[in-house]
Amino acid sequence: MNIVLIGFMGSGKTSVGKGLAKELSFNFIDTDLSIEEENQTSINNIFGKYGEVYFRDLETKKLVSLKEKAQDTIISTGGGIILREKNIDLLKEIGIVIYLKTSATTIVNRLKYDNTRPLLAGNNKEEKVNEILGFRESIYEKAADYIIDTNNKTISQIIDEIKEQEFNEDISD
Ligand code: S3P
Repeated sequence: MNIVLIGFMGSGKTSVGKGLAKELSFNFIDTDLSIEEENQTSINNIFGKYGEVYFRDLETKKLVSLKEKAQDTIISTGGGIILREKNIDLLKEIGIVIYLKTSATTIVNRLKYDNTRPLLAGNNKEEKVNEILGFRESIYEKAADYIIDTNNKTISQIIDEIKEQEFNEDISD
């Protein structure tokens, strides 16, 4: 069984994924980190040199390979993975999809000093977050089997909430 975490940049997918994998003794993979490792460069560089479409192709390829290989794995995804319908189908085939739902205000606070997200680079971070999240919110919700609200919660509270979901009964203590 695999669990896939989706959600906006800064929603905690990587931290929650790592912690959850540790607690459940699952494997962990982060699609962004894995793409960076395989290409030996940062997401910023991939966007800058080859553009977003190229990066999205890498994401789709990564999901195809995960569909074949992933077992007992928590998979944290890049925030834009849901932009392609084909990716949503792949996510659902890979595992149970959990949306870490986070408000624009929380995201802007968390990413105030971040410069690793090319889509939020430059000024007007707040405007960009509002616009992109506004567009994506319903897509995340539709793609998800479960929705966990992460606002005002610690990473370990979010992990506990995921572990309380009914699908987890057979794998948690
Ligand atoms: C993106 C989110 C990023 C990364 C890339 C694009 C997006 O991942 O994949 O910068 O389109 O939302 P995180 O959600 O892990 O920041």
